[in-house]
Amino acid sequence: MEVDFVRSRFIKHFDGKTGNVYASPGRINLIGEHTDYNGGFVFPGAVDKGVMAEMRINDTEDTVMAYAIDLKDRVDFKLSDSNGPRASWARYIYGIALEMKKLGVPVKGFNIAFAGDVPLGAGMSSSAAMESCFAFGLNDLFGDNKVSQWDMVLAGQATEHNYCGVNCGIMDQFASVFGKAGCLMRLDCRSREFQYFPFKPDGYRLVLLDSVVKHQLSGSPYNDRRNSCEKVVKCVQAKHPEAKFETLRDCTWEQLDEVKDEIGADDYRRAKFVLGEKDRVLAVCDALTEGDYEKVGELMYQTHEGLSKDYEVSCEELDFLNQIAKENGVTGSRIMGGGFGGCTINLVRNDLYRQFIEDAKKRFNEKYGHEPKVYDVVISDGSRKIC
Ligand code: GLA
Repeated sequence: MEVDFVRSRFIKHFDGKTGNVYASPGRINLIGEHTDYNGGFVFPGAVDKGVMAEMRINDTEDTVMAYAIDLKDRVDFKLSDSNGPRASWARYIYGIALEMKKLGVPVKGFNIAFAGDVPLGAGMSSSAAMESCFAFGLNDLFGDNKVSQWDMVLAGQATEHNYCGVNCGIMDQFASVFGKAGCLMRLDCRSREFQYFPFKPDGYRLVLLDSVVKHQLSGSPYNDRRNSCEKVVKCVQAKHPEAKFETLRDCTWEQLDEVKDEIGADDYRRAKFVLGEKDRVLAVCDALTEGDYEKVGELMYQTHEGLSKDYEVSCEELDFLNQIAKENGVTGSRIMGGGFGGCTINLVRNDLYRQFIEDAKKRFNEKYGHEPKVYDVVISDGSRKIC
């Protein structure tokens, strides 16, 4: 995205002055889905698509004048208004400003215009890109950059919880803030320790196929999945009062089986997926270290199967894309992100790439009347000030 594009709109829609420009990316996730809020591991990386915002202090006590360039929508609101704005995009600005204030940043009135090129509803975290971008900007404009990267991650997550109705984990905001060009990151969501993993698979590439089935996590079964996991943890805890169980990460397979009859079939299957997924992320790390991409791919297919059959966050279109990948000899393929629509992520050998994409476009189009969108993954840097 071009700075000039955002800047020209900022100048036009406000008082002609310029401000500072910030950018934050969306993300992919190689493996480790629905594990973040269960204290497990994730393996994301930032992408070359994101949100760019120009921001300037406007010398009012607490009036925010906001312009969403892509939607051509202007909303002004006061930070002191306890309801906040109604437009869903403006709630991210409102929410993050209040969360940054909680962290001690003396946020006052500001002007902001922003645009994005993360496909909406594709499961690539356009909302985390907004939160991180606005948090980064407010930290710079009002906070002397004193708020740490981790606190900005948590402020983004709190924005989702408190103002947008999604009880998400920390993966998306983490990836958007900490991303590094050419590197995936393995994050332990319980301890918050992470490592950068240079990702340059020789002879393979990552490509996303977007089903264009819009996923929306707010008010969705996403929160139900999280509730299921928490219920299981409570049951295990009740059986073992001597130990402390915070998330499914703390539960063993044996402990899960002990409560099998009490928790019901749905919750059991969901918890089983989560425990398996935690192990798969670690197995993927080992396979990557050994350069064994065929193993990585096999684990990706297992994740898809689990997300589809046990966690039940897939849909017909995504299962179809996964099937096409399999039939084209694609090394690994799975639904990516929260689910209920969005993309598959595919690890494909260079020599099979063209044939796979052509076949997927053709067959998907025949069945659903439109082609999937294709995004080649370019692993890029996290939140930053542009100028
Ligand atoms: C969404 C959430 C994340 C994570 C994924 C599933 O993207 O925002 O916190 O739970 O779904 O892995």
